[in-house]
Amino acid sequence: MDKLLIRGGRSLQGEVTISGAKNAALPELCAALLTAEPVVLSNVPRLQDVATTLKVLRSLGAQAERSESQPDTVTIDAGNITSREATYDLVKTMRASILVLGPLLARFGEAKVSLPGGCAIGSRPVDQHIKGLQAMGADISVEHGYILARAQRLKGARITTDMVTVTGTENLMMAAALAEGETVLENAAQEPEIPDLAELLIKMGARIEGHGTSKVRIQGVERLHAPAVPHEIIPDRIETGTFLCAVAAAGGDVTLRRADARHLDAVIDKLREAGASIESGDDWIRVRSQGRPKAVGFRTSEYPAFPTDMQAQFMALDCVAEGSARITETIFENRFMHVNELVRLGAKIEVDGHTAVVTGVPRLSGATVMATDLRASASLVIAGLVADGETLVDRIYHLDRGYDQMEAKLRGIGADIERVK
Ligand code: EPZ
Repeated sequence: MDKLLIRGGRSLQGEVTISGAKNAALPELCAALLTAEPVVLSNVPRLQDVATTLKVLRSLGAQAERSESQPDTVTIDAGNITSREATYDLVKTMRASILVLGPLLARFGEAKVSLPGGCAIGSRPVDQHIKGLQAMGADISVEHGYILARAQRLKGARITTDMVTVTGTENLMMAAALAEGETVLENAAQEPEIPDLAELLIKMGARIEGHGTSKVRIQGVERLHAPAVPHEIIPDRIETGTFLCAVAAAGGDVTLRRADARHLDAVIDKLREAGASIESGDDWIRVRSQGRPKAVGFRTSEYPAFPTDMQAQFMALDCVAEGSARITETIFENRFMHVNELVRLGAKIEVDGHTAVVTGVPRLSGATVMATDLRASASLVIAGLVADGETLVDRIYHLDRGYDQMEAKLRGIGADIERVK
């Protein structure tokens, strides 16, 4: 099992290029199931979760290949789907496999998808996905751990999910693209990955408006085609935010290339409050930080508010900040697993339900710690960068799910970090 060995205390200088967004790539790869024509996506990040999604698509009979000549380009050809079943052994490794449900049902009128288990951060049910598809006329039962869905042809409906759900909005938007009539998603998620998916669907012939707001209207069409040119996936705002937090914590001067500051207003505001100076252009962000950051509290909520996927990383920054900060996690019921590991590194954190109070210390002290989930592992890497001595982060298969060459990128800006067996 790979580990990351980090020797802390160095500031970070130079440039790093941000990869394509994991949480846009996963639904967009699944969107290729909606057409018989080959769909080409560019700026596809090299991640374990992307590899798993390609495996799921191949298990359905699709061709799913990363181009040899242009490694960030992937072609999905769903012209010959031989199965409509996403099996447990694949879905259990990645919950986002649920994103094949809407496309399979919309294009073939049937789908059998394993119920994704919960995961470390919460039970994460998919009842809203099911409720929305039933509203569109699907006949859905859940038996032996599988969702069995059938529909002659989905019909447009007005759907209000009980809470804002990112993949729920994506599944329903993809299903509605081929349904008969109009679908209106009230209470839709507004994360930037939703408009990016909608733009791909529109290039495929879908009729969508309001994407990026809480009310999305989709007029179903008979058939979708491949986009005329490859669709370029937006930059990963969470990878961007992770690097911004790393520089704010460790100090230095770093420019992020192929980054979009517009997707990170809430995080950039908080980083400025912590004392970092941040400038940005169309596709770059420069972050400078020296001396100890100031502790800054925040409350996670749906986009455009502070993203839950940045909570663990910003907490690592607060651990070495001046003062104390209150952090409230409102999206997932169990997203503080990184706290105990940060405490092993000398952090002072008190958790009370959904709120953690962090009291900054001047230095953390390196130790062996264990990653528990994707963003927790990023938090421990940031903490290792600012800890005295050596930090060994174990179980970094969690990190590899969502970060493209993290240690190489950090080494490229001066961190002392290496992958060890
Ligand atoms: C997406 O997960 C992201 N994953 C998550 O990123 C992210 O943390 C999350 O959105 C919130 O922003 C992908 O996009 C692949 P939700 P998702 O449905 O769609 C409850 C990462 O680190 N809910 O928006 O699964 C749910 O339990 C990952 O990259 C229901 O109760 O999240 C949660 O409390 C982690 N029933 C809340 O809603 C449902 O049917 C938000 O979940 C659906 C959701």
